[in-house]
Amino acid sequence: CVALLAGTALGSAQAAGLTVGFSQIGSESGWRAAETTVTRQEAEKRGIDLKFSDAQQKQENQIKAVRSFIAQGVDAILIAPVVATGWDAVLSEAKEAEIPVVLLDRTVDSDKSLYFTAVTSDTVYEGKVAGDWLVKTVGDKPCNVVELQGTTGSSPAIDRKKGFDDAIKAHGNFKIVRSQTGDFTRAKGKEVMESFLKAENGGKNICALYAHNDDMAVGAIQAIKEAGLKPGKDILVVSIDAVPDIFKALAAGEANATVELTPNMAGPAFDALDAFLKGKKEPAKWIQTESKLFTQQDEPLKVYELKKGLGY
Ligand code: AHR
Repeated sequence: CVALLAGTALGSAQAAGLTVGFSQIGSESGWRAAETTVTRQEAEKRGIDLKFSDAQQKQENQIKAVRSFIAQGVDAILIAPVVATGWDAVLSEAKEAEIPVVLLDRTVDSDKSLYFTAVTSDTVYEGKVAGDWLVKTVGDKPCNVVELQGTTGSSPAIDRKKGFDDAIKAHGNFKIVRSQTGDFTRAKGKEVMESFLKAENGGKNICALYAHNDDMAVGAIQAIKEAGLKPGKDILVVSIDAVPDIFKALAAGEANATVELTPNMAGPAFDALDAFLKGKKEPAKWIQTESKLFTQQDEPLKVYELKKGLGY
């Protein structure tokens, strides 16, 4: 385990030879699939033996996978936690076994001492960036917003809602008229948007859609078109992730803005493990990735081409 390797002279390819277990949520979104691809690439680059487990969206599967990684005596464990609560027991077991756990892209409610570090964006800030963009774009006009939330109980769904609410709360002309989970999937995003459209006078009462990820936005864009409205014009669309497909939608004028989330969480995670192995240097408890706003003005087709090579 890492505790035993710490302080040994492993040279520059420090992580080479390590075995790392990765409990992934599933493949609910394009972003998630890219994160899996990039994690595999980053592991291969460093000569890490990556043991991959797909939880099919179930926390119980993640807990089983982590217990199996502990039993196998892996050197470190990566977890992308599907929900924020219910991790104390299994994280304590990993700690007891002296196996460092890195949280990827989502956080948990457990005490920070139970994990090594977390590599995530500031998900509250992402929601705030989306909300600020909408406030700036709409101005003083009345604006009914519909919201597609991510997976219930997941940290990005909780935080992105909070950040967006914070951004609009001082502006009385904005009202969230419908808010429901679309589970971060394209299919559910479309289905829930269809129900929002029906409930809101065929969509005529809706000024903007805020989706907690791009995949739900892409599904919703389809629903808006099928309802005979123009996404991006009749209904503004703002979402989060910056996956290639949203850049196509931005280029077509059917989406308006997205906040970028890098799928490369594993690179910083492996770097932190490397640094720890070299000098026993404990990383910060939070390694924050960047959140950048993209709009139709940011050469979306060019970005689309660039993105395709980055795990998508
Ligand atoms: O935790 C990150 C979120 O999970 C991404 O925004 C979403 O696409 C994914 O499924």
